[in-house]
Amino acid sequence: AQTVGRNADGVVTVGGIEVTRLAEEFGTPAYFLDEADFRARCHAWRGAFGSDADVFYAGKAFLSRAVVRWLHEEGLNLDVCSGGELATALAAGMPADRIAFHGNNKTEDEIQRAIEAGVGRIVLDSFQEIVRVAHIADRLGVRQRVQIRVTVGVEAHTHEFIATAHEDQKFGIALAGGQAAEAVRRALKLDGLELIGVHSHIGSQIFDMAGFEVSARRVVQLLAEIRDEHGVELPEIDLGGGLGIAYTSEDDPREPHEIAKALSEIVTRECEAANLRTPRISVEPGRAIVGPTAFTLYEVGTVKPLEGLRTYVSVDGGMSDNIRTALYDAEYSVALVSRESDAEPMLVRVVGKHCESGDIVVKDAFLPADLAPGDLIAVPATGAYCRSMASNYNHALRPPVVAVRDGEARVIVRRETEEDLLRLDVG
Ligand code: LLP
Repeated sequence: AQTVGRNADGVVTVGGIEVTRLAEEFGTPAYFLDEADFRARCHAWRGAFGSDADVFYAGKAFLSRAVVRWLHEEGLNLDVCSGGELATALAAGMPADRIAFHGNNKTEDEIQRAIEAGVGRIVLDSFQEIVRVAHIADRLGVRQRVQIRVTVGVEAHTHEFIATAHEDQKFGIALAGGQAAEAVRRALKLDGLELIGVHSHIGSQIFDMAGFEVSARRVVQLLAEIRDEHGVELPEIDLGGGLGIAYTSEDDPREPHEIAKALSEIVTRECEAANLRTPRISVEPGRAIVGPTAFTLYEVGTVKPLEGLRTYVSVDGGMSDNIRTALYDAEYSVALVSRESDAEPMLVRVVGKHCESGDIVVKDAFLPADLAPGDLIAVPATGAYCRSMASNYNHALRPPVVAVRDGEARVIVRRETEEDLLRLDVG
């Protein structure tokens, strides 16, 4: 729902503001985030699942105090997976009982802080963690609400590094071999834990509903087994995040209401079949909420045609503000936005300014053949996992995030400065 257009001179505008003006005021590279679009997506997720479900935004996709306030106002909950994300959530006023705390190796200190803050749930990821959290909760005199993350054995069709429900990876406790059932047995015995449900997250950037459906079915089957063995019906299930977004015109993502419908139907049907009360469902979308809401604006620095190959276009950022191309072979599109051009398209590779050849932002794309230093180009759909995975490689200064709304732009995460970097050096 980004409000993108072009003015009479052919300059692209976003939320009514020319990108040339944005570049002048905020510099490049920079991420520009459409706040209205972000809120609309929150609203769509809330609406799709209705009042019988909770939507936890996955903070790892992108988190800042402003984002936490928007989530709070839009009625979403928040999934955090580190002490740092927890600190941001609390500092910006997210009520602790609306926070879920994740991670496969939470430190004792993080667990203690989460329990003391009163988080709504901690998602347990290993046998050791079951005992660890119970112990800390005991010491603090708290009965902590927890879920157990299970690995349902689904092969999600996505990049290996972001698939999480097959067996040979680090997350969760396998349903296979009765491991998850054993974890439940142990958790139910511990006074410090109130086991409220089971959690499954199968991976990220997924378009095919089948994996989610299998996951939902297996999670409900586990609830039935738990009821049969222990006589308790766990009241909640969480089916994770992972819905894919369109990075290029070839991607055809599903909408929140489609996934909501598919999941609710399966859960209802399986519960009826097993004669179980339908549990409260929660989901954890990250990318699908924030991904499409932002683009990165770069200035072209050099244009280097390689005879018979392609033209390398170097921009003023790179793998320090978007590692996804290098890490996952992610695909992006790119457009010239500071002017219109009738020139023929030329095959380009958009690269950064870092000291390695894998520093690629957009691997294959077409830009007008008259592209020149000083032109501004934009890479859409960089709202998720770009700023949050940004680095200081080559002592790059991480770019700002600027929220655009109703013709106004304001910085929500400022650009780093060289002083910020130097401040960490001791001696
Ligand atoms: N819930 C859990 C437990 C997760 O581990 C994740 C993502 C999510 C929810 C949110 O998934 P989403 O809806 O955003 O797909 N850095 C990678 C993505 C890693 C995702 C990690 N976990 C990337 O840039 O593609």
